Amino acid sequence: MTTQRLVRRLGGLAFGGDYNPEQWDKSVWEEDDELMRRAGVNLATVGVFSWALLEPREGHFDFSWLDAHLDRLHANGIAVDLATPTASPPPWFTLAHPDALPVTADGTRLVHGSRDTYCLAAPAYRGAARRIATVLAERYGDHPAVAMWHVHNEYATLCWCEHTAAAFRVWLHARHGSLDALNEAWGTTFWSQHYTSWDQVLPPRATQWHHNPGQRLDFSRFWSDEALAAYIDQRDAIRAHSDRPVTTNLMVPGYQNLDLWAFGREVDLVAIDHYPIAPGVDAAADIAFGGDRARSFGGGRPWLLMEQGANTIYAGDRVLAKDPGEILRHSLGHIAHGSEGALFFQWRQSKAGAEMWHSAMVPHAGPDSRTFREVTELGEALTRLGEVAGSTVRAEVAVLHDSDSWWAMDVDGLPSAELDYLGALRRAHRALWDAGVTTDFARPDDDLSRYRLVLAPALFLLSDASAENLRRYVADGGTLLVQHFNGVVDARFHARLGGCPAAPLREALGIRVEEYRPLRRDERIVLSDGSHGTVWSESVRLEGAESVAAYTNGTAALTRHRHGNGRGWYLSTRLDDANYAVLIDRLLAQAGVAPDLPGLPFGVEAVTRHAPDGRRWHFVLNHTAEVVPLPEPGHDLLTGATARELPPGGCVVLRLP
Ligand code: GAL
Repeated sequence: MTTQRLVRRLGGLAFGGDYNPEQWDKSVWEEDDELMRRAGVNLATVGVFSWALLEPREGHFDFSWLDAHLDRLHANGIAVDLATPTASPPPWFTLAHPDALPVTADGTRLVHGSRDTYCLAAPAYRGAARRIATVLAERYGDHPAVAMWHVHNEYATLCWCEHTAAAFRVWLHARHGSLDALNEAWGTTFWSQHYTSWDQVLPPRATQWHHNPGQRLDFSRFWSDEALAAYIDQRDAIRAHSDRPVTTNLMVPGYQNLDLWAFGREVDLVAIDHYPIAPGVDAAADIAFGGDRARSFGGGRPWLLMEQGANTIYAGDRVLAKDPGEILRHSLGHIAHGSEGALFFQWRQSKAGAEMWHSAMVPHAGPDSRTFREVTELGEALTRLGEVAGSTVRAEVAVLHDSDSWWAMDVDGLPSAELDYLGALRRAHRALWDAGVTTDFARPDDDLSRYRLVLAPALFLLSDASAENLRRYVADGGTLLVQHFNGVVDARFHARLGGCPAAPLREALGIRVEEYRPLRRDERIVLSDGSHGTVWSESVRLEGAESVAAYTNGTAALTRHRHGNGRGWYLSTRLDDANYAVLIDRLLAQAGVAPDLPGLPFGVEAVTRHAPDGRRWHFVLNHTAEVVPLPEPGHDLLTGATARELPPGGCVVLRLP
């Protein structure tokens, strides 16, 4: 519904980006108008960092600036994604509310001078954020330029201050009910951590050695809930005055201070920022990973790529420049996986300030530049793709993905430093992507019956209910692969006693894991089928399953079990990439899952979007440097002609008959 409204409003896919005109003067605004028209921009995110301008003194608002820009954009045919500026409080805020600044785990109170200097749990911050969201919504709630609302920017900042401690205690009380229950859940009898009053309970601040794992996990859960509550505060303040969709830009793929499933339920439209961290084909796989997650967080609904880079982006200690053609190919990658458009951070590259080296749609060199030419080509391409807006992506395979497990694997003192939640999730997705298969992500307690194959690469923490859900999925005919160190702790972070994984799931797998044998850092073991394992191994006892590949001592490493109408597979080591790919191909074949477009070579991606009325389009993206013939010729929306092959780096969007 929300998406349909946006599509109707924009007349197709969204194209544009963050627009921060406060950095420029009138002559540049006039050029912006002309260049936006030339590029085909139809949506601009305005006001993300404009708090100091909109509220120059606490409680004193000045809207003349924003009034003028909204009217100007509207007159130029550009819809506005109006932001609340709460990710960057102005300096007056620090001086008025020093208690609302964030405190790091080691007790350092941060001050202004950057951005994101606030504590989400501080009443003064929450009040100030709600107030500015309210006044913006009152004034612009039905402004004709406003197509949607962009609350805050990337809820990223963590805090360990006294406000956080107080809110954490309230949250813990609600979750556990009593201090006794908290002591029991956290296992505080060990290391003499027993709490005798609530005020002794702290957020996991810097301490001597390992934190209590229950405390760490609960803090992650709490902080995500706190951030979501801060979002809901603003969303509801806006909804009271506006009927336009409200969202916030989530960070994928690696950032995990938030339960993005929970945010997916509260936003009207999932929006993500995605800056791939690797070049070439790996960037394309990363885009697919982010896009499939975004779609899944929204329950399969179309979503929106809110930010990407037009050229150089910061990737850890590297700066990745985009190669020619990647602006289009990366954008189409996101759209193939369900995005309703392609937006960038930001429209015009800053001439000063902290992000002056971050690329933009209009670079420092100006419009006479490769970047702007490619941006303009993208705008034209998206106009031609208008008919795909509102369509969705379908998958027959799911990878299970759960915030509790991710957070739980983030604690100190696990039995191997190489157990890596995100790495395991990415590998599973990558193996499916390499096989040409479109993948959903799902939670372990979701109804999985629509999937032919489900992979559980890293469900370290598994509740009893989820373990039973997975057993039932297999019994009802599904194929499930569970990987090592899964179902090892329950929802309280207590070890499962009597063998792993959690009991009902063991039934579906026909095995019981007795012991772990983490491998040495460079150890690489050979299994009986010639494949190689690293990082981890286990003593697996067969309880009905057959051994498919064994360790050198003859005990099972990979097993298969028929349970009810389905099959449960268990893999107790981390296979090398090539061996893992072979296993995934075998499972896909057994489950009867085919690629979206069979017959394409490695590095050529094909994803299908489906309209509710049955129309379909194949997005086919050539991430290689070779010319690739298409399995069948088809009508390409991008050129309006019949396509028979893909040039190196080329893309087609084929309308299916
Ligand atoms: C995003 C952020 C933007 C900008 C961008 C630079 O995470 O939302 O404001 O900082 O990164 O890559």
